[in-house]
Amino acid sequence: MDSFMIKGPCRLKGSVTISGAKNAMLPLMAATIFTGGKCRLENVPDLRDTRTMIKLLKVLGIPAELNEGTLDVDASDPSGFEAPYDLVRTMRASIYALGPLVARFGKARVSLPGGCAWGPRPINLHLQGLKSLGAEIRIDHGYIDASADGLKGAEIILAIPSVGATVNLMLAAVLAEGETVIENAACEPEIKNLADALIGAGAKIDGAGSSRIIIEGVSKIDPFTHRVIPDRIEAGTYAAAAVLTGGEVTINDCNPDHMHAVIDKLRSCGAEIETAERSIHVKGPDKIFPVDIETGFYPAFPTDMQAQMMAVMSVADGASSFVEHVYTDRFTHVPELKRLGAKINLDGSVAVVNGVERLQGAPVMATDIRASSALILAALVAEGDTKILRIYHIDRGYEKIEAKFGKLGAEITRISE
Ligand code: EPZ
Repeated sequence: MDSFMIKGPCRLKGSVTISGAKNAMLPLMAATIFTGGKCRLENVPDLRDTRTMIKLLKVLGIPAELNEGTLDVDASDPSGFEAPYDLVRTMRASIYALGPLVARFGKARVSLPGGCAWGPRPINLHLQGLKSLGAEIRIDHGYIDASADGLKGAEIILAIPSVGATVNLMLAAVLAEGETVIENAACEPEIKNLADALIGAGAKIDGAGSSRIIIEGVSKIDPFTHRVIPDRIEAGTYAAAAVLTGGEVTINDCNPDHMHAVIDKLRSCGAEIETAERSIHVKGPDKIFPVDIETGFYPAFPTDMQAQMMAVMSVADGASSFVEHVYTDRFTHVPELKRLGAKINLDGSVAVVNGVERLQGAPVMATDIRASSALILAALVAEGDTKILRIYHIDRGYEKIEAKFGKLGAEITRISE
């Protein structure tokens, strides 16, 4: 297992280029399943999750190859309909295979995803929605057995604006007979990116990116070529790092329009932030003002930036609070930040952080993608060396992270053990 050794403190300076969005790329890869031909995705990041999804497509008889950010997928002759446990347990987004397989082939056998580092990750909304579209769903020895003799459009009201459920149900409904309405749909930009690709391939979708999506089923979805949008969470992570280190960083190839809540909070910390169409310039303050964070569904402050902001607040000039509304137990980063000297009190889904003068380097453990990035940020300003163990978590969601931070002046070395 690889580790990172990071020497702090440092001030980041220079520019960084953002990669394609992991959470846009995964649904787009799943969407190739029902096209029956050759698809191409551009601006695809080379991540562990990309390679896991490539493995899943291969298991389904759909070869895919990534070259310098371009992913070529050949879905001409799919031959499998099962997403196995060993892939699903390493990447929950494997369940995105469910919708397209049932819609096009009338059958799918997908492992239940189980939990993750911070607790249960139910998929009841995915399954309820597929049943509404006419699928038969059975749970058998840890697997979802889904079958349908043609899906029929339906009105689906999501109890929670779930990103995954919206993706899966959109991928099922585009080939269902008649009209489907998804009420309380997730509004994330990644949903719109998926819909744009599907519309370009012949789908009839209105309202993607809003909480009401209307889909008129069609008989087939053609092979498509589509560009993955920039990763708003990766961009937010580097912006937070610039604020935390009191540095000055230009973030290129991003979309500030997808980041209003994060930019707003970083400005409240005292950062000077200028935005252009595809870039952000961040100048960190000498003193970080404390800000209170409440995570919510897009466009509210994203849960995927909660840990990174907690690293910033750990050295703010005062107390701040974090209320996690999306995943109430997403705090595995708290004990690790405390090992670096952060003063954090956690009570249920609320954390109170009392800023300290300086963090101290220490060995810490990565637990999930965003918690790992929070530990890197904290290590950048901690006094001395920090060793971060199990960084395979970070490799799932951040492309070339040590090279990108190194180019900004961070001393970060990967140790292969
Ligand atoms: C997506 O996960 C992202 N993953 C997550 O990013 C992100 O944290 C999350 O959305 C919220 O924004 C991908 O896009 C691959 P949800 P997803 O379904 O789809 C509950 C990262 O670091 N829920 O929107 O799994 C659920 O428990 C990852 O990149 C149900 O109750 O999230 C949660 O409380 C981590 N039943 C809430 O909804 C369901 O059937 C939102 O979850 C589905 C979800």
